[in-house]
Formats: sequence, structure tokens, C-alpha cells
Amino acid sequence: MLTRRQLVAGVACIGTAAAFAASSARPRYTRRLGAPVEMINGETVAVHFTAAERAIALPCFDGRSLPMWTFAEGEWPPVIRLNLGDRLEATLENRLPRAEESTSIHWHGIRLPNDQDGVPYLVQAPVQPGESFLYSFIPPDAGTFWFHTHCNTVEQLGRGLEGILIVDGDTTEPYDSDNVLLLRDWQVDLETGQFSDFYTLRGAARAGTYGALRTANGARNPEIPLPASGDCRLRVINTDPTRVMQIGVEDAEAAIVAIDGLAVQPFPLELWSMGPAMRIDLVLRAPSEGKFARLVDKSPPKRVELAQFVGKGAPRRKTAFNPAPLRASRIPEPNLQNAERLNFLFRASDAGEVISAAEDTLGTTLGSLCISSKIFWTINGLPWPDGDHARLPPPLAVLRREQSYIFTLTNDSPFVHPIHIHGHTFKLLRSNKQSRPQHQADTLLLLPKEQAEVAFVADNPGDWMFHCHVIEHQESGMMGYFRVI
Ligand code: C2O
Ligand code: CU
Repeated sequence: MLTRRQLVAGVACIGTAAAFAASSARPRYTRRLGAPVEMINGETVAVHFTAAERAIALPCFDGRSLPMWTFAEGEWPPVIRLNLGDRLEATLENRLPRAEESTSIHWHGIRLPNDQDGVPYLVQAPVQPGESFLYSFIPPDAGTFWFHTHCNTVEQLGRGLEGILIVDGDTTEPYDSDNVLLLRDWQVDLETGQFSDFYTLRGAARAGTYGALRTANGARNPEIPLPASGDCRLRVINTDPTRVMQIGVEDAEAAIVAIDGLAVQPFPLELWSMGPAMRIDLVLRAPSEGKFARLVDKSPPKRVELAQFVGKGAPRRKTAFNPAPLRASRIPEPNLQNAERLNFLFRASDAGEVISAAEDTLGTTLGSLCISSKIFWTINGLPWPDGDHARLPPPLAVLRREQSYIFTLTNDSPFVHPIHIHGHTFKLLRSNKQSRPQHQADTLLLLPKEQAEVAFVADNPGDWMFHCHVIEHQESGMMGYFRVI
């Protein structure tokens, strides 16, 4: 007899090249979420970022330096660490090497005031070379977040303009260690040691362009020491512009304790599908001294080891694994009884269909397909009119402040789309393809032909982007915004 899991995995296979298994929703761990901590005013933490080209030899580049674009000298990725209640004051100075290469910072997953959201034209003027902009806000949620450019994202993020934002204040008791694992590919030609194309026609109209180098924290399968037999927090962040991973841990027990930065009742990690921009916080029982465990991506066709963990020192814990949960978030609960419903349909444009259907688009040009449009994707039939933001379309919807909404998200395409909402987080209610525990998320992975329902309270006034986080899709039309008034 098929178990529920086999059934779910089997259903998820249909129509996709990859199998997307779902993690079990059955709780095995008994400890309950903590109450949220009270928000008290903290310190002001000032950082100065200079977006610039820097020749950096990440360990994965095998001794070569590449002309990365980064926010700061020194360590990549930069990490900002705050306590809940602290105000971040981040100055962004643009020293990018190209005329008219404007930039900005979007604080991904942070429910902040609209004018701090970093979307050029929509909420701020793009920061031109030589100019500066000051971001100032108090993040309302503790957890694991990240930040990235929202201008020419395919190239700027492709070259490294991103960082990690951690807001402390969500633990109920200390873990034995706390590590960040930023997962992404690098679009690098290994022969020449140069960046390869960040945007390809084939990628934009299909599943996106994959990088040749798979990395964690800029290294290939790095060895990460963990306190032996400790309960170790791992903040796993997929910042790849394209790749959907199926994350698992081998040779250690691991639980998911947060999704997109926000606490969930701990449940066992089996395989978790993580699209671009998605995060999970894991607690892993580290191996004993000298023994190894592995973080893997099990997406077909090939299992890839992303990082390995080696136990160090005297054993920290002897009791059975029952990880400490985090503290609940303070996201307002949507009222499902009086929620208004809106539908969003994600599908290809006519030009996108033509390119996607072309036998082999490698080396194909728009001209040879008799297509002049660079728009391959739409939301509710409307494409973003330009890769850039300079020509703003009307909003996809106007929402009333404090009203609850249920969005039905329908993917009418053969590719996956991680759909990201700015300024809010939504609660996943149900899906016709994947079985996942109810949770909050700012980015929801929609499988091919999947229909999912999400709900949230439109409590944050302003114009908020709503887009696919496969950056080539975003920049070829699958982007829009809604207005909360
Ligand atoms: Cu992380 Cu509008 O994006
Ligand atoms: Cu997409």
C-alpha cells in the first residue's frame, strides 16, 4: 500500500522534470513554540555599504579572482546582526563601475515601511553611481532574512550584491551553535574563469539559467565544524537566482524550526523544496567527534553534496533529539470568514510560449524566431512592461488596509515559480500538489500546474511588489505590485 508520502511525491512528479517530495507534517517533537518576546526599543546599528566591483577569490573560484559586485570589503556575504527592537541604519553608496548602473537594497522578508523597501521607481529613486541613500527601519520580526539589489537584479545579484540579515530574539533556549549557509550557484565559465551569461533566452523563457558552480558560503562542499552531539542551528538560505533545491540532511537527525525566518512547530526534515529566496532554519543533532553529516540537494538527476558537518569536541548532549522550538512570530492572523478573494494566474506570454516550444533555443535569437518582444511571462495576463521599473504599470489590485485576503495562486505553466510578496507574509492554507504544514512564508514555491491558497492581512500601506523570484522570469514580465490603501 502506498503511504501518504509516496502518494504525495508521486503526484508531485507528474508534469515536472524533477520530483518534489514534501516533508511530513506529522509532528514527532513534543516541545511547543515559545511566546514572542516583547518588542522594546533597542540600539541603533549603523552600517555603511559601498556597492562596488571588487576582485574576490571566493574559495569556489579555485584561486582565481572574479570581478564581483558586492556591498562591502572583506567577507562575502556581509552579515548584519541585530537584536529584535534594534533600528538598522544602512547607508548605501553606489560606486558600481558602469555609468547609469543604479542600485538599491531590498530587505527581503522584512515587514517594513514602504519607503524603505528598496524597489526603484515604485518606492524610491534608484541610487545612481556617486549617490547615497539611507535606509532606516526597525525589523518587526526576529529570524533569518537576507537583502539584495532590486535593480538589474539578474546581473547585480549574479555578481554577488546580497547579504544576510539576522534578527536575534527568537530562541527559547540557546542552541550549541548557530551557522548561516548561503546556498547559490555561480554563473562562471570554469575554462576562462569569467562570469558567464546571467540572462539567456532559453533560461528566461524556461526554467532559468543555472550556474556551473554549486556552493555554500562561496565554497564547494565546505567542511563545517560543529560541537559534537550538539543541537546546532543552521540557517539555510537559497539565494540562487534560479535553482530550486530539495534539501535534506544525511547521517544526522534534523528538524525544521523556521520557514522564511518565522517559527514553525519543529518537524522532521525529510526533503524540503526550496526555491530562490526561500529560507529554512534547521536544528541538527551534530555527529559525534570526528564523524560527518551532510547537507544535500536531492533534486534529480543527481544528488549533490552542498556542505559537510564534522563533530568536534566532547559530546554536548545525551538525551534523545527533541529540539528546542523558536518563539512564535507576531504576524497577524487573517480572518478567513470575512476574507476577500483574489485570483492570480501565472503563465507565459505568447512570445514566451513560442520560445519555450522551440526545439532548441540554445543559440537562438529573438530575430530568428520572428519575435520582437522581450516579455515571456505574465501575471493575470499582464506583463511588467519593461525589465526595468522606469515605466510603472497600474497595480494588479488595490487592497483595503486591515482587510484579510485569500489569494488563489495558479501556475499555468510547465515551470516552477517561487512567488514572493513584499511587505507582508502570507499563510499557506492549501495546495493541490504539495503537502506541507501550514506555515507563514514570504515566498511560496508553485509547482507546475499547482494551485495554492494563501491568506494574509493587508496591514502595511503602500505599493508592494509581487513577483516570481526566478530572476530571469521576474525580469521578463512575471512581476507586478498591489497597493494597500
Ligand atoms: Cu527578494 Cu522583490 O525580492
Ligand atoms: Cu517564475
